[in-house]
Amino acid sequence: MLKQLVSNASYAVTTPIFYVNSSPHIGHLHSALIADALFIFNKLKLLSRTGPVPKLLFSTGTDEHGIKVSMASQAQSQDCRQFCDINSAKFRHLFERFELNITDFVRTTEDRHRRAVEAFWTRLDNNGAIFKSNYSGYYCPSDETFVPPNRVVFTEDGRPIDDSGNSLEMYEEDNYMFKLSDYRDEILRWLRLSKVILPSRFNDEAIAMLCERVNNQPAIGDISISRPSSRLKWGIRVPNDESQTIYVWLDALVNYLTVVGYPNTVPLVRWPIDCQVIGKDILKFHAIYWPAFLMAANMNLPKRIICHSHWLLNSTKMSKSRGNVIDPMSEADSISPDGLRYYLLRVSTSHSDSDYNHTTAVRMVNADLADNIGNLLSRCCAKAINTTQIVPTSLKCSNISSTLGPKTEELTLRLAILADECDQHYSVANFYRGLDQIMACLRLANVIFHEKQPWVLVKEGGHRNNSTIHDLLVLMIECLRICSIVMEPIVPRLSQKIYKKLGFQNTSWSDAKMRDLNRIESESDRSINNESDAILFRRIREQLK
Ligand code: MSP
Repeated sequence: MLKQLVSNASYAVTTPIFYVNSSPHIGHLHSALIADALFIFNKLKLLSRTGPVPKLLFSTGTDEHGIKVSMASQAQSQDCRQFCDINSAKFRHLFERFELNITDFVRTTEDRHRRAVEAFWTRLDNNGAIFKSNYSGYYCPSDETFVPPNRVVFTEDGRPIDDSGNSLEMYEEDNYMFKLSDYRDEILRWLRLSKVILPSRFNDEAIAMLCERVNNQPAIGDISISRPSSRLKWGIRVPNDESQTIYVWLDALVNYLTVVGYPNTVPLVRWPIDCQVIGKDILKFHAIYWPAFLMAANMNLPKRIICHSHWLLNSTKMSKSRGNVIDPMSEADSISPDGLRYYLLRVSTSHSDSDYNHTTAVRMVNADLADNIGNLLSRCCAKAINTTQIVPTSLKCSNISSTLGPKTEELTLRLAILADECDQHYSVANFYRGLDQIMACLRLANVIFHEKQPWVLVKEGGHRNNSTIHDLLVLMIECLRICSIVMEPIVPRLSQKIYKKLGFQNTSWSDAKMRDLNRIESESDRSINNESDAILFRRIREQLK
């Protein structure tokens, strides 16, 4: 029973591990931000419960083996290991700058990972899932995958390319193969029954991939999981066969096991993983290959896969090979890490691609963070309005719509359901939908504030006016309190700033419930913390075209 309690109060989320063939761009940051937002949201939810302190895992890392990375290091005349060290550090620095809550950063060149891959291979082999064969087919180094014949096209000069224009290489060699076809029906059943992938269109896409047939054969058949070491040196060798190197995707997927202590920690730190965040370009590997490998190893499958769409630049997928990338570091210099994080999570939808636009980003963060929530906070703290500089908690008048106007009713109704609405949207990573509601509450609060004109009431003075200002502040501060909690997964640093300024002791998601403002007995009025920064988010001032 106790064991059950402990394992329930836990959450594990992963990102894909990032190729080190190039520097990070905002598409990479995006995968990590979604995982971080889910991590914070689930942590806040777990902290709402009584019981043991939740165990939390958030892993990310770098994918360092394979032909793509070895070609990139050669192109820069660098030793593979040194090249990986340099580029892996760039991802680590990026995540540090954005203060992500990462609990483990794994590199596939680490010894602990090699041991996990070797143990996993041996397990697949012992379970009869691996056989040796002569394999021939077209390989795409850019995606590190074999390409089915129906997706191979030839250029005018006879070069094979895939349907995205990536160059292909013909391989014919002795490989180890994995019997993926043995698991096809079981994977189909799993996808259909558990609907594990969200949004559902990607669950459907995975099913369609698995059902696709070419020349009356399944398009995804048994897969090659090794290459001759003479041709691919940069990787992990097959146990007991130095002449073969393990396929980079099998190697990479095992990172999810490395971070839970496989094969040494018994029982594993957490298994299965609660949520794997991936981009749609790597759906096949996570929705088909990974469950097949896990089934062959007799291990449980992930509970949830959140698949996100892509960031485009001028309607084209951002990618290093196309050279149309936005560097998150320089973008953060321009609109701040909080601003960039907000924009990426505010605008993107999992189901469709989004176009990155710097001007829109500046306008949006100014409107939402500076003019909406930032403005409400500074109004509540302004000495000209809040003359006593306190954070009032209980209303003086029991019927606020009579003193503050009919719009307060709409605001209190909205605030009462805000946490539940955000909960519903965040649990499926639809952050933009939660933010729609939050921003609507804050806009309405600013309208009520503006209409009441407390700066005029202050000048007029008198008991009645002072009570009205008091009650206005009570309601606005309750709005800020609730919004700062539900915004914590999106802009944690800004939420912390609000907590500090107004002295909120928030610890969990359940604190985001609207309180009965007529009787808040647990709190007495306290002073505004004037040592903490008065400006929540500094407007980005730049020449907008
Ligand atoms: N190394 C593999 C993953 C192995 S996981 C066992 C890989 N790496 S990647 O660096 O190419 O991509 C990592 C993540 O970044 C993926 O989730 C991918 O979808 C995401 N993005 C890369 N470009 C992107 C955009 N333009 N937009 C949004 N995310 C994109 O694949």
